[in-house]
Amino acid sequence: MSKLKVALLGFGTVGSGVYEAVKTHQQRLETLLGKPVEVAAVLIKDEQKKRNVDSNVLFTSNIEKVLETPGLNVVMEAIVGVEPGYTYLSKAMEKGCHIVTANKELFAHKGIELKKKARENNVNILFEAAVAGGIPIIGTLRKLLQVNDVSKVTGILNGTSNYILSDIRTRQIPFSRALEAAQQKGYAEADPVNDVEGWDAFYKLMILSELLYGVQPEWTETTRKGIRDVSFGDICIAEAFGLRIKHIATVERSLEGLKARVEPVMMAPSHPLYSIEGVDNAVTVTGDLVGEVTLTGPGAGAKPTASAMVEDLLHVQDSNHPFVHEKIKGENQESTLKDDNRL
Ligand code: HSE
Repeated sequence: MSKLKVALLGFGTVGSGVYEAVKTHQQRLETLLGKPVEVAAVLIKDEQKKRNVDSNVLFTSNIEKVLETPGLNVVMEAIVGVEPGYTYLSKAMEKGCHIVTANKELFAHKGIELKKKARENNVNILFEAAVAGGIPIIGTLRKLLQVNDVSKVTGILNGTSNYILSDIRTRQIPFSRALEAAQQKGYAEADPVNDVEGWDAFYKLMILSELLYGVQPEWTETTRKGIRDVSFGDICIAEAFGLRIKHIATVERSLEGLKARVEPVMMAPSHPLYSIEGVDNAVTVTGDLVGEVTLTGPGAGAKPTASAMVEDLLHVQDSNHPFVHEKIKGENQESTLKDDNRL
């Protein structure tokens, strides 16, 4: 029987979560795909490290060896940063592999190039796991966009920041202890600066903007503030007034153009994002027909992120996937914004 052959790039919290999810959900995947999924190769950093894995899987630090896997169909990427991910995914697509990625930094910087490369090589690149962990926001937006003009997306997009803000408030502990707890749970990035200084939410917001409008707002004109400067005192003062401080990312299209911001904001109990606690993320989408839709769920962690990646794995070979029909800046048109005469 033929198999869907997969390579995993990265075996940290997310990569190992995907490996486990494929094992535990093999029967279901086989039923849905009509063939089993085989994780044939895994790209790791340290070949000496002991791992509790099947001996028939190639664990190597050599990307060429991974990509030489005979009959490789899909590369699932869960490493950090723009490089080496960009080079690896480009090579994989040139070899005809479909891509599933969770790498928001890479996709925010190089999404257009990667999408174009995917088209040139007649493969798909899916990125549900890059934004809001287990929440199916990319799939939901693709669906809503079929019939809606989406004017605004606002949400909590960084699980670590939300976890820290909640933890400081509920356990009355300092920032450093709350960050430590988020790291121990595997929510924070390897370098938590990306989480606490707002970069992680910023990258996710840029990916959403590109999906919605075909372009990103100017990075230099986008406010990006993290939670590092939110003190215990600030949180207590907000609480005394019945408010909560939340780390909010918003992209909005109006007559003045495209505007985005990422910053801590005081929320009143009446706001749908006020009650989002712990590692949860939430995204509110405003569409002309649907009105406001809010999705809530786990924004980080091994299983929720693996869930998003494995969902993509199920559909990545679909030659009629909505990705194939999406407009990409520079392809046939400058951008969806310029074509929109309401701006
Ligand atoms: N560090 C990220 C977060 C992981 O806390 O949201 C999920 O992207």
